[in-house]
Amino acid sequence: MPIGILFADRAEKLKEKQVINMNNRDQAQQLVSQMTLEEKAGLCSGKNFWQLKGVERLGLEPIMVTDGPHGLRKQAGSADHLGLSQSVPATSFPTASASACSFDRDLLRRMGVALGEKCVSENVAVILGPGANIKRSPMCGRNFEYFSEDPYLTGEMAAALIDGVQSQGVGTSLKHYAVNNQEKRRMTSDSVVDERTLREIYLTGFEKAVRQSQPWTVMCSYNKINGTYASDHEELLTRILRDEWGFEGLVVSDWGAVNARVAGVRAGMDLQMPGPDNSSDEAIVEAVRSGDLSETDLDRVAVRITELILKGQAGKDNPVHSDSDHNMLAAEIARQSAVLLKNDKGLLPLNGDERVAVIGQMAQTPRYQGAGSSRINPAYLDNALDALKADGVQVDYAQGYNLSDNAVDEKKIDEACQLAANCDVAIVFAGLPDAYESEGFDRTDLAMPESHDRLIEAVTAVNSKTIVVLQCGAPVVMPWQERVAAILIMYLGGQAGGQATSDLLLGKANPSGKLAETFPQKLEDCPSTPWFGGEGNAVHYREGLYVGYRYFDTAKVKPAFPFGFGLSYTTFDYSDLTVESLGSYKFRVSANITNDGQVAGSEIAQLYVRCKAPAVFRADKALKGFAKVHLEPGETGTVTFELDQRSFAYYNTKAKGWCIEGGDYEILLAQSSDTVRLSETIQLDGDGQEQLLLADYKDLTDYRKPSVPFKVRDAQFEQLLGRTPPDGIRKPGEAYTVNSTLSDIQKTLIGKYLLSQAKKQTAGMIGEDTDPTQALMMEAVLMEMPIRAMKMTGGNVSDRQLEAIVDLANGHVVRGLRKALTKD
Ligand code: BGC
Repeated sequence: MPIGILFADRAEKLKEKQVINMNNRDQAQQLVSQMTLEEKAGLCSGKNFWQLKGVERLGLEPIMVTDGPHGLRKQAGSADHLGLSQSVPATSFPTASASACSFDRDLLRRMGVALGEKCVSENVAVILGPGANIKRSPMCGRNFEYFSEDPYLTGEMAAALIDGVQSQGVGTSLKHYAVNNQEKRRMTSDSVVDERTLREIYLTGFEKAVRQSQPWTVMCSYNKINGTYASDHEELLTRILRDEWGFEGLVVSDWGAVNARVAGVRAGMDLQMPGPDNSSDEAIVEAVRSGDLSETDLDRVAVRITELILKGQAGKDNPVHSDSDHNMLAAEIARQSAVLLKNDKGLLPLNGDERVAVIGQMAQTPRYQGAGSSRINPAYLDNALDALKADGVQVDYAQGYNLSDNAVDEKKIDEACQLAANCDVAIVFAGLPDAYESEGFDRTDLAMPESHDRLIEAVTAVNSKTIVVLQCGAPVVMPWQERVAAILIMYLGGQAGGQATSDLLLGKANPSGKLAETFPQKLEDCPSTPWFGGEGNAVHYREGLYVGYRYFDTAKVKPAFPFGFGLSYTTFDYSDLTVESLGSYKFRVSANITNDGQVAGSEIAQLYVRCKAPAVFRADKALKGFAKVHLEPGETGTVTFELDQRSFAYYNTKAKGWCIEGGDYEILLAQSSDTVRLSETIQLDGDGQEQLLLADYKDLTDYRKPSVPFKVRDAQFEQLLGRTPPDGIRKPGEAYTVNSTLSDIQKTLIGKYLLSQAKKQTAGMIGEDTDPTQALMMEAVLMEMPIRAMKMTGGNVSDRQLEAIVDLANGHVVRGLRKALTKD
């Protein structure tokens, strides 16, 4: 039986399991009614780094939650949230930036099934993922963990993965909620974003995943959103997430994200991780006793946590697939996710009888996953060089560059050129080494190492049949784009990416992936560039809705490769678009696609909607559906899509809801965001609510007609935002707080001391074989850690100790020392 069918069978259990879980709520309520105040408060923080506390006398056992999301990272020995310590071997799947290019819901669901199975066999109750943050800029160091710049695609992919995992009776944690789009100052930055952009761009993916798949947990992010930490954000955690979207699970903090514990309980932040945090638990007890927090609020949280524990404890079916099945699935996902960006004169696929020069160390030492909390200890690991050899290709290899230092090595380039000159075809493996993108810090530009670019340029000069295979988690600029004959991007293709690469190069598999993000020609073309990262703590989302292709298509900026783009070894014809009205803004759209080439292949058809003459400014078009169809040569298949009210709506900040403008809308069936193949215009009646916005929007000319390069005047951002944006800069003499970072207090005596201690502690965790990127990440995370997050470093640090540090940093030495020396 093909592996896909096997995994699909397994996912069918989903519905059955969800019904069983419904009863956990009643049982949880009963159990909580038997708990003491202290027991209930105690549940609110974890037992340790990865476990929840139970209540032994009531038969509630601790359960384990752990990373995620592209494989299981279950640490065997010491614990950390940055992937430093070793974990049990598990399948490393392609990361989200790769798998999103498959545009394949079923594939993501099957990956979820495999993740769920692994959790069952390792006794893990919840896997921490998927990540559904939007790629606001290709500069975010953690983009490899996120799906797309588009919220519709993000939501669909996340929902499918969640369905798969949860079909195994294992929970997920949809993260990082919300507007967490950079790593710089990730624990304290303030994302300043207007309400419409928040709804239409940054929340929609989360909303879809919650409404469609009910993740067991949602993880709140580290950052602030419009001045309020995510962990205290009642509007996001309760009013939107629960009241509007109907979320039924629990909210868990990102590791160390809790700002104010009691306020968090009130706001809807249920579980603090990691734990234990006796200070926080006690503060909850005191708040209930003093009437500051109602016991009903605490009960609600305790019930949710108890319910999660019950779900986690419930018996599960034994996994039917082995690590080796999962490895095969990882290879399939890698094959379906790779994107063929260029293929001059049909150079690819290779015949298999050419003499091939394989160049570049990544052919042998692949970059297949990213650094940080998602880092997997892979169960197997292959590479393209061995896979090509095993597939019978006549291969010679030259290293080309050193991954260890990334310096240009002329000798290695010469060797590579000599080899390439004597071969029929040269395949250069290049991309982004670990240190160029990682959790914990952002990228500095979009370039690959000079050693890779120079190597490619040199090889193209001696062999006109040069193919580049890219391994990276995010877009890069390609100064050699015009000179190479073919480009295949594998992204971070997971542990079986080598075999997948060989299969694609040899035509055993036909590339079908399409880009889930725009590849710009240069960083300056990305609209968020001037404001990305932010000044001080404030990050102004001035570009508003114009994220990714929404800007490129509206402002007519030519990207290197557009959103949704990807080539195939065959070609597809589109015909017979029909748009059928089902009433109440519902439409069924269908079209025929014919494989008019010579080989079998899959096509991803994309459905965009364009409002022809909007009064409320909009992007040129937005993705509202996609379908993937596999066709034999000469075969025709039908793709169908459903559109609904939301497909045409914009968020009206005055009406506080999703509204529709009357007028003409184009339904565009496209091969990529800039290649529309079929279109039809429909007319919709509106609700007239745009009238409420017109006066405010009249002057927003910078948004109504985005410029190249993109500029937004201060006054216009201010008007869109509805207030003066904070500058986020610390004023001279301003007092330090528990939210000041170690970098903020580094010049104070206590700051110096803490930094030296922290460095000692982390040096102990970094061994000889530690990847230098992990050391870099550690450094960045440490410097940008707020004082309050020291609770995460172990030892049950109390609130009083944190206050002592703040007092000492502010020069209140006596007060600080007194607090430091008082026993809790
Ligand atoms: C990351 C999360 C991760 C958690 C636990 C945090 O630093 O942001 O994505 O799940 O650590 O490792």
